[in-house]
Amino acid sequence: MRSLVLVGLPGSGKSTVGRGLARRVGLPFTDSDHVIEQRLGCSIRDFFAREGESAFRDLEQQVLADLAAGPACVLATGGGSVLRPANRDTLRAAGHVVYLRASPEELWRRLRNDTKRPLLQVADPQKALRDLFAQRDPLYREVAEFIVDTGRPSVSTLVNMVMMQL
Ligand code: S3P
Repeated sequence: MRSLVLVGLPGSGKSTVGRGLARRVGLPFTDSDHVIEQRLGCSIRDFFAREGESAFRDLEQQVLADLAAGPACVLATGGGSVLRPANRDTLRAAGHVVYLRASPEELWRRLRNDTKRPLLQVADPQKALRDLFAQRDPLYREVAEFIVDTGRPSVSTLVNMVMMQL
């Protein structure tokens, strides 16, 4: 079986839905951000602050390529994984890419108290989310085999929605 790759903005439920999917299809669950943090030995937030976004994107690209070359899994990716065209090719080659889509308003509802995401540690995080959505929605659509609108259904409903598309 090929991997199932989840893409979407921060807060779209990639890790939560990914864990449920992994149980359902019997594949291991991998979170690329977690692998990056293991390699770094520190949090992504600290690395971002110290080295900047471009250094983070280089490492992210390397980790995604390594994971795509490894055994099949359910892979939750970081929200910016689609920014580089090379990553979009990597993710498509790894398996079925699923875009978990949620509106910026819904994402804000879920992330308003978040302190982990460096791109939201700005004066107007709600606007930052709207801008990220405008920039990335077309890229998620481009890379994904299908889209699941997450809205407010439960995790198990979302897992079923993904399963129905496979
Ligand atoms: C990022 C999203 C984060 C993480 C990093 C950058 C982004 O992952 O990779 O902070 O550019 O949107 P999540 O989507 O899991 O929050």
